[in-house]
Amino acid sequence: MEMIDAVRARHAVRNYQNKAIEPEKAEALQRAVEEYNAQFGLSIQLCLDDPQAFSNFLARYGNFKNVSNYFALVGPSSEGASLEKCGYCGQKLVLLAQTLGLNTCWVGLSYDKKKNAVKVKQGEKLHLVIALGYGETQGKASGSKPMSKLCRNANNEEFPAWFVAAMQASLLAPTALNHQKFLITLHKKRVEAQSLPGSYSRVDLGIVKCCFEIGAAAAGAQQGTDWDWVS
Ligand SMILES: Cc1cc2nc3c(=O)[nH]c(=O)nc-3n(C[C@H](O)[C@H](O)[C@H](O)COP(=O)(O)O)c2cc1C
Repeated sequence: MEMIDAVRARHAVRNYQNKAIEPEKAEALQRAVEEYNAQFGLSIQLCLDDPQAFSNFLARYGNFKNVSNYFALVGPSSEGASLEKCGYCGQKLVLLAQTLGLNTCWVGLSYDKKKNAVKVKQGEKLHLVIALGYGETQGKASGSKPMSKLCRNANNEEFPAWFVAAMQASLLAPTALNHQKFLITLHKKRVEAQSLPGSYSRVDLGIVKCCFEIGAAAAGAQQGTDWDWVS
């Protein structure tokens, strides 16, 4: 499965089967975790067989059932850049999991922040988690705002085809409460991505940028040559 297919197939799944993740799949996920931690200065952890993190009132109230595995998104406690990096790397892990036939759900609130197997060092914070496993279902599509509300062209020109494809992938990105608090502006070949006020919108921004890059690449636009982020 290509990454763009994973972007299209993924939906939030909160109800999981009693089925362990096979060692070779867990190893592939662990290798990716280590790669992103080294590249982005994070301390993401793959936590397997730890049902206590989803056993409290918040998890039950949030309709989570049978969650035993999750990614813990741990990073520097200074929130700014750390939250966006957690969003970006977390979404790469979500999509890798999807290609392996696994399901996921981003979780900011509905889990036990105290009773869990996550190791947090001084100067770090557990920002949020991603539930992981074999879902009871594949989930279902959530609605999206129209593309015109989520992007604009600073030069009032028609959007190029690669940008439309990248936006279509961005519209499928999961966001907290499905609020889609982001705005993407095209300045010729430069793309500016902004988070708007809202809970977890800095995390959402990283998630959206990951999906945008996958959509652009699938349309044949090369980052660094055909387009790049406004830094
Ligand atoms: C940063 C973030 C935090 C989230 N926190 C929670 C949560 O605490 N509880 C929950 O049930 N869903 C949570 N979600 C899942 C969203 O509700 C879900 O992704 C959104 O409704 C879109 O649905 P989709 O993922 O199927 O596209 C969170 C999603 C994101 C991106």
